[in-house]
Amino acid sequence: MLSDRLYKAIRLTENTYWVGAVDWKIRDFHGYSTNRGSTYNAYLIMQDEPILIDTVKAPFLRELLSRVKSVIEPEKIRYVVSNHSEMDHSGSLPEVVKIIRPDKVLASKNGVAALNKHFDIECEVETVTDGETVKLGDTSLTFFETKMLHWPDSMITYFPEEKILFSQDGFGMHLASDKLFADELSRSLLEEEAGRYYANILLPFSSLIKKLVNKLGELSLEINLLAPDHGPLYRRTEDIQWIIGKYLEWAEQRPSIRAVIVFDTMWGSTDMMARMIGEGLTESGVAYRLFPLSASHRSDVASEVLRSGALIVGSPTLNNGIFPSVSDVLTYLKGLKPKNLIGATFGSYGWSGEAPDQIADILEKMGVELVAEPLKVRYVPKGDDLMNCRELGIKLGSRIKEVAKNGGV
Ligand code: FEO
Repeated sequence: MLSDRLYKAIRLTENTYWVGAVDWKIRDFHGYSTNRGSTYNAYLIMQDEPILIDTVKAPFLRELLSRVKSVIEPEKIRYVVSNHSEMDHSGSLPEVVKIIRPDKVLASKNGVAALNKHFDIECEVETVTDGETVKLGDTSLTFFETKMLHWPDSMITYFPEEKILFSQDGFGMHLASDKLFADELSRSLLEEEAGRYYANILLPFSSLIKKLVNKLGELSLEINLLAPDHGPLYRRTEDIQWIIGKYLEWAEQRPSIRAVIVFDTMWGSTDMMARMIGEGLTESGVAYRLFPLSASHRSDVASEVLRSGALIVGSPTLNNGIFPSVSDVLTYLKGLKPKNLIGATFGSYGWSGEAPDQIADILEKMGVELVAEPLKVRYVPKGDDLMNCRELGIKLGSRIKEVAKNGGV
């Protein structure tokens, strides 16, 4: 049976081990394309009364138990901390509790409520409060609520004796790897995947991220190991400072001189328009990425929007409305609440042509500054039409530069 020590725990510090699981095959995380897999990190603190920090997604229970068994018999664990009740971290909690019979599970007030709504947990689930330090045997743990990062129940746990911050979803990324530490991976990969995680999960909560980072600064917590629940752990000071700095940068959402063009097409006309807008951007010296939705995932678009200053959306008109794939990406982006964007809309049509106007309404509600009226072309764009698209690209490029100089729209 897998629980019999086939998987090994990885020792992190004198008394703390990684006992999580690597999910090499997950490709969708509630709508976010996780094309490099993920990890569900769980941690074992081995002092007089052993503590398990978080669990794993339900199918990975045996892997978790196997790693724990390489250190101690799971029944010796006395406490479980549940930092976050989303099921990638709590899915195996009911089974873990049945097997190890801990004295109690600790969670935030919202965490206790959420766990009780999800499961029947067969032991006491105790509330810990923001800033509270709890003594569990020889071990002191301090808990800080991080509401909405990423759920209302979320909290992070600090282990002062070994200066470890278990940061749950915060500072994480969906990345399966045989490497456990950030310093074993390239910065470009870390930036790409941490940014992708931020854009697709945390972007709507950017103001709370800023507060959290400021709070960590005010608390002057010494952090020797930053241990999120997904992806690599940060053990070098420069790497910890780097990822915290990146979070502040992403939370600011300062406009940059880049653009995203996202569109779909029925017979190639809206595609021609998109490409010509791109030519105009290039002429004005602005870099862009073009996302044809027949070949692009919404989470790739979101990741690029995080580092861009313009969102340009095109759609043919289908049955008096927006093409379905374009509606999908707009719904997704609207929920992520990106800030400081300028934009424009465009599209080809046959007889009614409502789609670019409808997209413009959505972008305005998102707070995107539109630089021009929706650009529409009946059937197939010809010379002047394509020139107008090019001019739109140039106009967008010029405005992006102004906005970037001013620091916002
Ligand atoms: Fe990794 Fe919000 O769960």
